[in-house]
Amino acid sequence: MQIAIDGPAGAGKSSVAKEVARRMNLNCLDTGAMYRAVTLKALKEGIDVHDGKRMGKLAKDCKLSVEYNENEGTLIFLDGEDVTGEIRSSRVNQHVSIVASSPELRKELVYLQRRVADESGGIVMEGRDIGTDVLTGADFKFFLYASIEERAKRRWLEMKSKGTDVDFNELLEEIATRDRLDEERKASPLKVAAGAKVIDTTNYSLEEAISAVLDFIKQNSEEGQ
Ligand code: DC
Repeated sequence: MQIAIDGPAGAGKSSVAKEVARRMNLNCLDTGAMYRAVTLKALKEGIDVHDGKRMGKLAKDCKLSVEYNENEGTLIFLDGEDVTGEIRSSRVNQHVSIVASSPELRKELVYLQRRVADESGGIVMEGRDIGTDVLTGADFKFFLYASIEERAKRRWLEMKSKGTDVDFNELLEEIATRDRLDEERKASPLKVAAGAKVIDTTNYSLEEAISAVLDFIKQNSEEGQ
C-alpha cells in the first residue's frame, strides 16, 4: 500500500500522514525533511544555495538517512548526526525552497525516497511531488490545502508551543514566498496530481482531516473489492 499526500506548507500534511500511517500500520516519510537537511548542510558549509548543480552534488555526497518513529514521525540523520530538530530553524525555512528548485538535487532525493518506499512494507509519503513524480503509481493520492491565513496561524501556534515567538505577518509572508517558489519552479512544481482527492482542511480540526483521508481510503477500497 502506497499513499501519497501533497500540498503546500501548513496544510496539515505531516500530522495527517503520521497519524494515517500509525492507524493503518504503515511506514511514513516526510520528504520535506530531506530537502531541509541538505539545506542545513549547505548553510553550515557556506555553499551558495542558488547553485543548483552544486546542491545536487552536495546531496549525492552527504550521508542522508531516515528512520521512522511511530510517535515522532520522520527522524533525519545527516552524516550520522540527528538533525531532526535543527532542520526546522527559520534560516532553513527561508532557503529550503530555493534549494528544492534544483533538478540535480531533486533527482538524488527522489531516488532515495523511492528506495525507502520499496524497502518499506507499505508507506504514507508526504511532500510536494509525491503523487506527480515520486510515487506516480500510488494506491491513493491526496492533495491537502488550506487558506494561507489558516496555514500561517497553524505554523505560528506550532512555533509558539515550542517557545519560538515569531511575527505573524513575517511568517505569512514567508509561507507566501515558499508557495510561489514551490508552484512556479520548473522541476516538479507543486500541483494536484491526476486522480488525487483534494481536501480543504481550512475549517477542519486535525482529527477531521485524518478522518477525511481514512474514510476516502475505506470507501474506495471497499468499492474496489
Ligand atoms: O514540507 P516542508 O515545509 O518541510 O518542505 C520544505 C520545502 O521542501 C518546501 O518549501 C518545498 C520542498 N519540498 C519539495 O520541493 N518536494 C517535496 N517532496 C517536499 C518538500
